[in-house]
Amino acid sequence: MSDDAKREDAVERALAKLDVEDKVRLLSGQDFWTLPALPGIGLASLVMSDGPVGVRGTGWAPDDPSIALPSPTALAATWDTELARTAGRTLGQECRRKGVHVLLAPTVNLHRSPLGGRHFECYSEDPLLTGEIGAAYVTGVQDQGVGTTVKHFVGNDAETDRMKVDVRVDQRTLRELYLAPFARITAAGAWGAMAAYNTVNGLTMTEHGPLQNGVLKDEWAWDGVIVSDWTAARSTVPSALGGLDVVMPAFGDPWGPALVKAVHDGEVPEDVLDDKVRRVLRLAARVGILAGAPPVVPSVPALDGSQVARDIAARSFVLARNENNLLPLDAGTLGSVALLGALAVDARVLGGGSALVFPPHVISPHDGLAAALLSARLVYAPGADPRPTLPPASFDELTATLRATDFRVLYSAALPAATVRWMGGLPAGVAPDELSTVELSGRLTPTVTGVHDLSIVGFGHFVLRVAGDVIFEGPVFADDLDPETVFHEPVERRFPVPLTAGDAVDVSLTLEVTPATAGFVGFSIGYAPPGPTPDELLDQAVAAARDADVAVVVVGTTEEVESEGFDRTSLALPGRQDELVFRVAAANPRTVVVVNSGSPVLMPWADEVPAVLLTWFPGQEAGAALADVLLGLTEPGGRLPTTWPRRAEDCPVLSTTPASGVLSYDEGVFIGYRAWQRGTVAPLFPFGHGMGYTTWSYESMEIHPEPDHVGSVVVTLRNTGSRPGREVVQIYAGAVVGTTVDRPERWLAGFAPVTAAPGETVTVRIPLPERAFQIWDDGWQAVPGTYRIEAARSVDDRPLSAELSI
Ligand code: BGC
Repeated sequence: MSDDAKREDAVERALAKLDVEDKVRLLSGQDFWTLPALPGIGLASLVMSDGPVGVRGTGWAPDDPSIALPSPTALAATWDTELARTAGRTLGQECRRKGVHVLLAPTVNLHRSPLGGRHFECYSEDPLLTGEIGAAYVTGVQDQGVGTTVKHFVGNDAETDRMKVDVRVDQRTLRELYLAPFARITAAGAWGAMAAYNTVNGLTMTEHGPLQNGVLKDEWAWDGVIVSDWTAARSTVPSALGGLDVVMPAFGDPWGPALVKAVHDGEVPEDVLDDKVRRVLRLAARVGILAGAPPVVPSVPALDGSQVARDIAARSFVLARNENNLLPLDAGTLGSVALLGALAVDARVLGGGSALVFPPHVISPHDGLAAALLSARLVYAPGADPRPTLPPASFDELTATLRATDFRVLYSAALPAATVRWMGGLPAGVAPDELSTVELSGRLTPTVTGVHDLSIVGFGHFVLRVAGDVIFEGPVFADDLDPETVFHEPVERRFPVPLTAGDAVDVSLTLEVTPATAGFVGFSIGYAPPGPTPDELLDQAVAAARDADVAVVVVGTTEEVESEGFDRTSLALPGRQDELVFRVAAANPRTVVVVNSGSPVLMPWADEVPAVLLTWFPGQEAGAALADVLLGLTEPGGRLPTTWPRRAEDCPVLSTTPASGVLSYDEGVFIGYRAWQRGTVAPLFPFGHGMGYTTWSYESMEIHPEPDHVGSVVVTLRNTGSRPGREVVQIYAGAVVGTTVDRPERWLAGFAPVTAAPGETVTVRIPLPERAFQIWDDGWQAVPGTYRIEAARSVDDRPLSAELSI
């Protein structure tokens, strides 16, 4: 008997022993992250955790860190499915280490508008690239015997009013764009999917029978589990009949006794219930928590997560501009480097929201360059600070202490920075109803005399003490009292405190916790010593740039700009960072701008600086990878997975604001480069764009017929430079002879990375999928005709072309 058959057998035996009450219990969270154990059938509790760049774990505790890989946009920018599989395997390994059975990832909604708040957490504007990277990632996680939930099914391409918004999208667009990655990834064997918050064409996704039952489960013959997004399920019978299998979390669960009653009353047939239970038991069997079922056993050698994070980061960096080959820098001949920008020291390595993890360490650009530069002098100046809140303090002896009402210490841990964040789960052993206060405490030894700034960032009732004196006692609340929203968008209160250099003071901040707020505990002590004014900061950076051989300016976004829970209101860099770049570039013609953002930002200075390197949210090894790339130890391997506009108003689709509760995808299949190609304005950097440190000549292409698919494109290219290099060969298809079908000018039909030594010629064979030549018209229909097939370096740079008749 195969392992699959043995698992199915164990599932049926377990199912047969359950009554309706137990079946229903199994389908809802018992807390924020887990399903209940049913010892009677040998079933342990199934543990889920976010996802997608690390594994937070149920406690999200600072003393239980997680590897933080680069943002999903970065992973997609590698255009490397092998690396995506390695990313998945690394996270599967993290899940096993943390006792997590199902990783709540990957996020495969599309980059419809660059304003989308979770743009950084999704892969691309292109469904093929999204599907290929997502499928490889899922395969990698599951190689470790750990499940995934491909999310958010479907239409959660923006965050504004995400619980209520009705996304109106026609069937063709839904199939050709938004469902396509889910189709690819479920076909690759994902064990789970997550139903989105939003509504699609009038039906909320957790109740969407036509899409969940009709498409996902029936048409695609998929045997996985559909889990609700957290608190997305808001009904009993409609969601149970609409295909949802599991409601998460326990809080606000509409199933439980109401579903038992609905089954007994015949409103939900018992075989519908059984189908859900079967799926959950199958998942449990796969991840090895159902007695008698052989788990999917990992056969993957142990991976070094830090090395994987560093490799992906370097491979993802997109060298968007490199005039006169300013990069790579030669560490041997460099005299001095001016490193500028607040994010050069406080790197933004991951995006905000449920994707946040606590990494074991963060290597900032400053750390990375300081370690890698041989004899060159490294001078740092912040120049402009985009952070609207003070950064978390890093005092000595920083500790988090959780106490009960009788002051008993329930938990205590040392912290690297004065910030904690627990959503739906407190550190191990702490019961929410016992918890009364959370205190952050540490010792600050001022190095300058003057007025220092301390701040409270968070929400709730706080007491701030400095040297035993109460500086503040009272409430800090946002206007919006929904705990989940304010958790993602905390407020800041600042307190100026006069301190003397050398006189150490104890600082503590205590939060009162109530049962209503125990589910969302997240706050920080912010700190800044007295310092220069913003104008002085800029002047200092310009002076440092003027005196250096090369200036490296790190600019980017902040957690207040890119996060789950809201969309961006602007694509501009926050604060005075544009001014910093303009002034530094004017002071030093050898200026490299490093952009640290998860998604596109505007770069009004792009034509005036010789080198621009886009580094996404680069994960915990940020600075090490940056040094590797700037100094030429590694080639920047990234190609844009999404178009970067010159001006916001040029974007073909921009607004994510619903009108009367409706967000209409009126543009149909024309998003991203599919839309830019129809317009008259060129973007700043097109889809697929990115350079390495060598040059390539595309020498020939042929199309070879294949027995099992349309054919393969065989491309020969040569490394014409003096360094070894890696190139991503992109294949675009487009119809030559007009049909009546309104299709984009061209669309991505395949891709493959190649490597070659200087002077070496390589040949790569890239299969053309049938789907590239089909449209959705009440079913997939081949569109016969003559197609132009192009081998390209980006959607706007296509050296070779051939024709293919279908
Ligand atoms: C997010 C999901 C996430 C879940 C659990 C939700 O708010 O939309 O992506 O998996 O929370 O943290």
